[in-house]
Amino acid sequence: MSISFKGKVAVITGGAMGIGEATARRFADLGADVAILDRDRLAGEKAALALSGNAKRVEFYECDVAVPAQVENAMNSAAAAFGGIDVLVSNAGIQRYGDVVGTSEDLWDEVMAVNLKGCFHAAKYAVPHLKKRASGAIVVVGSVQCFTAVGNSAAYVTAKHALLGLVRAMSLDYAGNNIRVNCVCPGAIDTPMLRWAASLDPDPEKVLATCDRMHPLGRVGQPEEVANAIAFLASDWASFITGTALMVDGGMLVPTGGMGFQESGTGAAAKK
Ligand SMILES: NC(=O)c1ccc[n+]([C@@H]2O[C@H](COP(=O)([O-])OP(=O)(O)OC[C@H]3O[C@@H](n4cnc5c(N)ncnc54)[C@H](O)[C@@H]3O)[C@@H](O)[C@H]2O)c1
Repeated sequence: MSISFKGKVAVITGGAMGIGEATARRFADLGADVAILDRDRLAGEKAALALSGNAKRVEFYECDVAVPAQVENAMNSAAAAFGGIDVLVSNAGIQRYGDVVGTSEDLWDEVMAVNLKGCFHAAKYAVPHLKKRASGAIVVVGSVQCFTAVGNSAAYVTAKHALLGLVRAMSLDYAGNNIRVNCVCPGAIDTPMLRWAASLDPDPEKVLATCDRMHPLGRVGQPEEVANAIAFLASDWASFITGTALMVDGGMLVPTGGMGFQESGTGAAAKK
């Protein structure tokens, strides 16, 4: 049995670029009809056009996941156009920095509205459609920061931790409808978000090289590698998996004390 989404409809929030775009491409390649929901109209239309054709159907719906009426409208429009929804990939997210003192009320609210409430909105308006099918899947894009923290990222870390709670709550609520709900937790992935974050430093290349070294596999991940994990969790191959988090982090969370300690801490000399 190979993974196929033939005859299935997948909705991907934040599907215009980065991990979301790679996921839209993977689902289309595996036979799904795909709805990209994104607030960036230019990038969304471009992605949908690029991924369509050769019997592939990918449509763009302009939508800010922080605005419930827009999500409801986009979800219902996609379901009407495609004849239903089988898979929701809740991926849209933003990165913002600050400790609690340095985080303004507005910045905190913005991060929560997109990264946490955006997922609540997407699920709220997708689940009624998923319930109409014999089975369904929701995959939420979390982060290694669902489990761990990076300094100066209070709102982002909090939202990502909370997402895991939402995943677990939904996995129980919809198990009886045969809707599985899981989370993927990427390490650093080479997307516009990572490039933007690196560009905040005077030496972006140095930041990216440090990101490479944070992962035992010695490199940052590619968006397609996260897309593959998402496709697996949404597929029948994961038919008995729900309420869980799959690390897609090149081993990032494994080493005690981080990679620096592995290179020069106790025991490191004995290895040489
Ligand atoms: N890149 C990484 O290193 C990394 C690591 C761990 C987790 N993640 C998570 O993966 C997800 C995707 O990240 P990415 O790196 O691909 O980001 P990206 O910035 O490269 O792409 C994000 C996409 O989401 C869209 N988007 C942002 N806010 C939106 C909103 N309010 N409504 C609708 N669309 C919106 C953007 O327009 C864009 O198309 C995010 O949830 C992010 O937190 C990324």
